[in-house]
Amino acid sequence: MNKPSKIIDLSHSAALDVQGVAPSASALDKIKVIGGQQLNGIIPISGAKNCALKLMCASILTEETLRLENMPNSLRDIASQVELLDYLGCTVEGEGDIMAINAGTITTQTAPYDIVRKMRGSILVLGPLLARFGHAKVSLPGGCAIGTRPVDMHIKALEEMGAQITLEEGYINAKAPKGGLQGAKILFPKVSVGATENLMMAATLAKGATVLANAAREPEINDLGECLIAMGAKIEGLGTDTIRIEGVPSLGGAHHRVIADRIETGTYMIATGMTGGQVRLENTSIDHINSAVALMCQAGMSVEQDGLDVIVARDINTPLKGIDIMTEPHPGFPTDLQAQFMAMLTIADGAGMVTETIFENRFMHVPELSRMGADISVQGNSAIIRGVKKLTGAEVMATDLRASVALVLAGLVAEGETTVNRIYHLERGYENIVGKLGGVGARIQKA
Ligand code: UD1
Repeated sequence: MNKPSKIIDLSHSAALDVQGVAPSASALDKIKVIGGQQLNGIIPISGAKNCALKLMCASILTEETLRLENMPNSLRDIASQVELLDYLGCTVEGEGDIMAINAGTITTQTAPYDIVRKMRGSILVLGPLLARFGHAKVSLPGGCAIGTRPVDMHIKALEEMGAQITLEEGYINAKAPKGGLQGAKILFPKVSVGATENLMMAATLAKGATVLANAAREPEINDLGECLIAMGAKIEGLGTDTIRIEGVPSLGGAHHRVIADRIETGTYMIATGMTGGQVRLENTSIDHINSAVALMCQAGMSVEQDGLDVIVARDINTPLKGIDIMTEPHPGFPTDLQAQFMAMLTIADGAGMVTETIFENRFMHVPELSRMGADISVQGNSAIIRGVKKLTGAEVMATDLRASVALVLAGLVAEGETTVNRIYHLERGYENIVGKLGGVGARIQKA
């Protein structure tokens, strides 16, 4: 096979603004949506961003090449992770939805602030660097728009594996004991996707067995585990809250296909539920978002798996019903679909309540939805949404990825024109959102 050319555009990442850093002028692009169109047609679903970012980190665990397929290569977050791997000295090549990473050429174990601040997912290089090289220096990701999001559990668990960790000038300085990280029994005080992933990767190369108790069970963790197993890791208990990893001396290269993005899938399901119509979502599965699908059906939508695709529909004569949702770790309702679901409830018949239990500050979409005519009152970590007859187009802006997409969804059903500012947030996590929604009938364009 021909060697793929390097197509990943690193210039993307310069515009990121996860922690309030001023974006570049090009990042101030807008999306304009004119509401009122039903959605009908086909939307292809991309590979899962939240898997892809971790799989890229897993490549650090081996000198051999990790070849990933179904990668959402055009996302800004992916470009940001490429920038980091590139900085560390890895060779990253990509073409279409393929990415091949070789970490045999790593020259530094330091992940600098300038890159890490752009995306929290970059903290996932800590475990792999420490496990393979015995030391790592990774900038603290810092505060983020959806809450304080500490990394204390990542650090404490690595310490339990024998690492000596100090925090100096905003950096995590980690050193493995002589002979490498030691297997340990780790009980996470709280379910954390990132901490489970970081520790699972670190444990693959540790001496002896590691047990991760109260581990996260998100499908992204299974996918990472499957890839690590293909690389030679010994892992049991994926999909349960107790994961057991038997350390091996080294891992090798592998070829792995990334699972479909369940959050992108859920987002387009909700979009169709809001506008009415029927959309076939290609190459995805409802299995990874069962809890959300059950609630969508309760709200008046129909969702069914059809081979490799999912068909979602709502008859425009069937009104949406207000229902209650509460975010929880998997298999509960995912926090990454909370803002989109709330956008749907704004136009439902009756009232619904949204309770956010994962992040303490994840209602930034509320004031913007209110500017479009939504009736929402927030009390602590719950919001009561009273459905209104119609939303009205407005100029809006959001400060995180899922909040931004919720505003696009609201724009699809609002009367008149909605302008969503700061779309670089959307480009972090939604491949070709304008093309995908435009392709099923939405009146949407970049402005
Ligand atoms: C990942 C996802 C994110 C999703 C979240 C929850 C990626 C890149 N991001 O984020 O989209 O919303 O899971 O499903 O995959 N916590 C601590 N200490 C820690 C780590 C976490 O207190 O050391 C807290 C967090 O602040 C949060 C909760 O634990 O309140 C869950 O966070 P976590 O599951 O770690 O989220 P991420 O892995 O950052």
